[in-house]
Amino acid sequence: MKKDLVKLAPSILAADFARLGEQVAAAERAGADRIHVDVMDGHFVPNISMGPVIVHSLRPVTPLPLETHLMISHPDSFLEEFVQAGSDSFLVHWEGNANLHRTVQRIKALGKRAGVVINPATPTAVLEEILQDVDQVLVMTVNPGFGHQQFLPTTLPKIRRVREMIEQIQPRANLEVDGGIDADTAPLAVAAGADVLVAGTAVFGEKGGVDVAMNRLRASIDRLEKERQ
Ligand code: DX5
Ligand code: ZN
Repeated sequence: MKKDLVKLAPSILAADFARLGEQVAAAERAGADRIHVDVMDGHFVPNISMGPVIVHSLRPVTPLPLETHLMISHPDSFLEEFVQAGSDSFLVHWEGNANLHRTVQRIKALGKRAGVVINPATPTAVLEEILQDVDQVLVMTVNPGFGHQQFLPTTLPKIRRVREMIEQIQPRANLEVDGGIDADTAPLAVAAGADVLVAGTAVFGEKGGVDVAMNRLRASIDRLEKERQ
């Protein structure tokens, strides 16, 4: 995989919310490909984060796609509100959704990109019947709900399996990873087949600033490419 095909999606969950617009602009200048917005409702995951109002505030600040990761119990009820606020794509979980196909079709009917997410304990087989309908798969590399958790190395063989499935069933789909991605784990995830990396703490938690952090992440992927040549 060529390095420029690997996309970086900073997660604003780790940003300083008092300076959110500034932080997103810094991520954009440093080469972010999209902005990852983590929405949590305190039910689906044991944490509450943000809603459409944040998307609405960010929409005029950046031209980058606003990717909305819905960690909420009833995603269908909020799709339109997020679209009106400015979301460009949605990531919806397989877990807890008895009508995932309907959710995906609703997202597409709204003209947005649809991605399906699986948690660390969820087997890849659940993707078989939905993969043909989605633009993206997100493999969680931590349990969802919190930033700054440790990458679970047991997810690496799973990323490889999902890459194989994508090549067979839906080659145009992206394979994204989310949780504990930094300069050490990013090359592992990319080597396993990921082509979109979500990173929160590794981007916004770096003392040296967002551009230093993004450069470090990008360099870690570049090194992998050189080693492969
Ligand atoms: C976890 C969220 C992640 C999180 C990643 O539930 O989906 O997007 O913000 O944060 P880091 O990169 O700090 O693990
Ligand atoms: Zn996320």
